[in-house]
Amino acid sequence: MTGTTILNQKVSFLVKERPYLLDFFTAMAITVPRNQTTLKEFLQSIPSSQLSEFSLNHQSLIDQCLDFIKQMEIFRLQPQQSITEITLKAGHDKNGNPEPNNVVLKVGEVVALVGPTGSGKSRLLADIECLAQKDTPSGRQVLIDGEAPDEKKRLSGDQQLVAQLSQNMNFVMDLTVGAFVRMHAESRLVPDIDFRIDQIFATAVELAGEPFTLETPVTALSGGQSRALMIADVACLSASPIVLIDEIENAGVDRRRALELLVKEEKMVLMATHDPLLALSADRRLVIGNGGIQAILTTSPEERRVISELLVIDKKLSGMRDLIRTGNRLSFSYFLG
Ligand SMILES: Nc1ncnc2c1ncn2[C@@H]1O[C@H](COP(=O)(O)OP(=O)(O)O)[C@@H](O)[C@H]1O
Ligand SMILES: [Mg+2]
Repeated sequence: MTGTTILNQKVSFLVKERPYLLDFFTAMAITVPRNQTTLKEFLQSIPSSQLSEFSLNHQSLIDQCLDFIKQMEIFRLQPQQSITEITLKAGHDKNGNPEPNNVVLKVGEVVALVGPTGSGKSRLLADIECLAQKDTPSGRQVLIDGEAPDEKKRLSGDQQLVAQLSQNMNFVMDLTVGAFVRMHAESRLVPDIDFRIDQIFATAVELAGEPFTLETPVTALSGGQSRALMIADVACLSASPIVLIDEIENAGVDRRRALELLVKEEKMVLMATHDPLLALSADRRLVIGNGGIQAILTTSPEERRVISELLVIDKKLSGMRDLIRTGNRLSFSYFLG
């Protein structure tokens, strides 16, 4: 659902459909009206003095509220909404030259997007996220199982097909890690909430490498820790069949393990990456240049064998990174060992 649509709905209706919204306002000690006020009117009626306590103004409150809804919606997909494939109908590059082919991506496969910075990797992910219908800068059209998605469904967001792990996580509320995960688990209506919370937490700590607890406030997490938490959250809770990942490598998480967790038979994973280890771990890679898909490479058996060499180099590099980080000097003996 678009932000404008949500803003024009009645608060009482929104809260009934999305009980988690109450948590959002309770955290700021704001009482939600039961009358006919729209969300926009309601947000604008909150006195500025009350907002400044949370370093917010009316615009940033609206942005945060919409962001929060978007984050929570990732978890609302009903499991029966399964798909088999998506088609990226050819658009054009930045100069308007047509892309050579339509590309069909199947559920169960891992696809890497490679190409220089500025070449259009994030654009392609965004095209999929919004189910582009020739209405984005690339002119691409996304088909679900061969058909254009119903326009109403596309705008209503009822059918949450896509879970996106974005480059920067921004936590809109200051909850503890435990409360944050509980809120997501509750909104997904899973039966075994406490088990899920433990599972997500254990996974996040494993991915992050640096320990944190269920009592840690989410705003106190490092970049790597918050990324790890979101990955664990999506891996354990989200039922969306399409997972989009934008440049996971600099996030300070165990990126191969993260990929392993996210890859499931019933999911399609698309990731933009500059990391050879991740690119070769994919089944195929789309080569992006000047805004267009220029080639599609299937990972060869030889490339698969290269992965084990890369793992050795990677282990060495991360060992060196740790030594540097902890204030040590490096020596040549490190390369020989
Ligand atoms: N096919 C296209 N036509 C027009 N503009 C495009 C196209 N693909 C990408 N762009 C624009 O080029 C810029 C860089 O693209 P981006 O996806 O951020 O690159 P990357 O993620 O590879 O660094 C963005 O402003 C994006 O909207
Ligand atoms: Mg990008």
